[in-house]
Amino acid sequence: MKVMVIGSGGREHTIAWKLAQSEKIDEVICVPGNGGTSKEAKCKNENGDAVEIATREKIDFAVVGPEDPLADGIADRLWNAGIKTVGPKAKGAALEASKDLSKEFMKKYGVHCASSETFTNKDDALTYIQKEGAPIVVKADGLAAGKGVVVAKTVEEAKKAATDMMEGEFGEAGKKLVIEDYLQGVEISVLAAVSVSEEIAKQNKACIKAFLPARDHKRLLDGAKGPNTGGMGAVCPLTDVSEDTMLAFEKNILQPTLRGLIEEKMDYRGFIFFGLMLTKDGPKALEYNVRLGDPETQAVLPMMDFDFAELCLAIMDGTLCDFKMNWKDGFQVAPVAVSGGYPLQYPKGKLITLDSKKIDAIGAKVFFAGASSNEDGKIVTSGGRVLACSAHGKSFEDAWKKAYSALECINYYGMFYRKDIGLPGAAESN
Ligand code: AMP
Ligand code: GLY
Repeated sequence: MKVMVIGSGGREHTIAWKLAQSEKIDEVICVPGNGGTSKEAKCKNENGDAVEIATREKIDFAVVGPEDPLADGIADRLWNAGIKTVGPKAKGAALEASKDLSKEFMKKYGVHCASSETFTNKDDALTYIQKEGAPIVVKADGLAAGKGVVVAKTVEEAKKAATDMMEGEFGEAGKKLVIEDYLQGVEISVLAAVSVSEEIAKQNKACIKAFLPARDHKRLLDGAKGPNTGGMGAVCPLTDVSEDTMLAFEKNILQPTLRGLIEEKMDYRGFIFFGLMLTKDGPKALEYNVRLGDPETQAVLPMMDFDFAELCLAIMDGTLCDFKMNWKDGFQVAPVAVSGGYPLQYPKGKLITLDSKKIDAIGAKVFFAGASSNEDGKIVTSGGRVLACSAHGKSFEDAWKKAYSALECINYYGMFYRKDIGLPGAAESN
């Protein structure tokens, strides 16, 4: 089979690598891909319109990585062109693109989450904040490049955030606000495969299956300090998440979400990401993302002891309910290396040197993100989050040591990474 992966990050490199491991797969076309996918076995990069490339190359199916093209309806366009696609159509993708819509959905179908109100009028929002008190969380409705959420410790801070957002700090994205209760706890990410369409639901085969729990580390510095980033590293599975917690998640979040997708007649055949807060009252949904997480994917996919291409086919064909997901024993640790200065200003085009033989001997895998191939075929930095070093171990310590010793075999100007991914005190909590 010839398949296509749309996107250019570390998540997409991981998806392409995992697909390429399948005996069913002969070629993976990455659109546009990155410096890592250009060198990955069975993979090649192509630039251009995904529908045009998919049609010309007669691909068997496409996997869409990021949320933006999904919200823009790329899955609708690919299916309309007769191309099977993993990734929800635009209606489902709106669950990430609008916080108001996703909260409405959660409430309608009884998904456990923080209580909230939506506002389009500034005075009403300020009155509500005054009445509710702090801490309180102010969220811009639309996509605001990860900056549209303010966890305010004081009423003043919340009012300022609401005023700034409504006065256009994030353009249209902040003209509508969701203001919600502050949840105390520790955060985890659960990714899941989803197979829902009207046709599949009619046959009683609509299905959602969660992967092993994982955790991202969003702050730049050790001890969950410093500014927020796109993610500084991930681990999978988690020793601090009990079976009871996962059962409560299944009952109060996962299954109600599936019911909602069916009732709303969505064509959602793809992946969903649950951002969860583990509170003393059980897990609560913070958000949906309509795709796999980045960098969670770099830690979760290597733990899969099954054929990812077959999983994709099951999602699209409506046979996910019969698909058996086996997982490796042990742990996967994937710290991310960034460009010095990230998440603010950082240099680009810096040569990345790596001792591949040593990294292979250690047993780690490098997934590239903000990295491209230059004219000489060398890999250079091109973004803030440059790569993740992902390693497996029978114990967490074993995986951790491998991932970090592999990072020591890599070098580029300004290279920076957290030294505590997965260690006690590293997780986001409040
Ligand atoms: P979101 O984009 O909605 O996931 O929010 C981004 C981050 O803000 C989350 O990862 C949490 O760290 C934090 N956050 C969001 N909602 C809440 C809440 N209700 N209570 C506490 N923290 C929150
Ligand atoms: N790791 C969080 C995200 O993918 O948005």
